[in-house]
Amino acid sequence: MMRIDKYLADMGQGTRSEIKKLIRSGRVMVDGETVKKPEFKIDETTQKVSLEGKQIGYAKKEYYMLYKPAGVISATKDDRDKTVLDLITDKKRNDLFPVGRLDKDTEGLLLITNDGELAHRLLSPKKHVDKVYYAKVQGKVDESDVKAFADGVDIGDDTPAKSADLRILKSGEESEIELTITEGRFHQVKRMLAARGKPVLYLKRVRMGNLPLDPALEPGTYRYLTEDEVESLRNF
Ligand code: URA
Repeated sequence: MMRIDKYLADMGQGTRSEIKKLIRSGRVMVDGETVKKPEFKIDETTQKVSLEGKQIGYAKKEYYMLYKPAGVISATKDDRDKTVLDLITDKKRNDLFPVGRLDKDTEGLLLITNDGELAHRLLSPKKHVDKVYYAKVQGKVDESDVKAFADGVDIGDDTPAKSADLRILKSGEESEIELTITEGRFHQVKRMLAARGKPVLYLKRVRMGNLPLDPALEPGTYRYLTEDEVESLRNF
């Protein structure tokens, strides 16, 4: 059971005081009956709430897989740039955030949720959750790079990057690679490749833990995670 004003605030329908006004002015219905008291208690699992005729469902936790396009930033709010949260157009919750960050020009898999515990687990350096990136880089990537990354490359921090798995997909003047890292340092992939004299031209995250980017998604689109996917991320 919860208060109707909290229910609507949790679902991003306004600030608590805006919502109280809406309720008092008779704009909110519970199971078809107008409710005018903000403290009115409802069962969020069974009762139907509508605001100005629009049904507002309740979700405690939400989980989205976003194919982040280049040009948007991994933040919840920004005055200048579009954020990843602006792309989740039918979200219910107002407390969603991206799990970690991708650079503005990086594309690919980004989880958006309000499950702080799951996010913490996925981002904790202790958990070593794999993050897999596809990159196009300038220069010829070869076995010496594979070895350097396996040994731990110096990227200018106090400690070298942890051992990372480099797979060469195409080697030439411009190379294509897949790199698996278990950390999430600032600009980590770009700095690792720069340290080898091979600047990144294009970067896309293709997997996080056991969750691959859904090939059916296009840049800028998203889908809800299945229960199995949430469960397997929890157990990773
Ligand atoms: N490494 C980077 O350099 N950038 C990203 O966005 C993610 C990983």
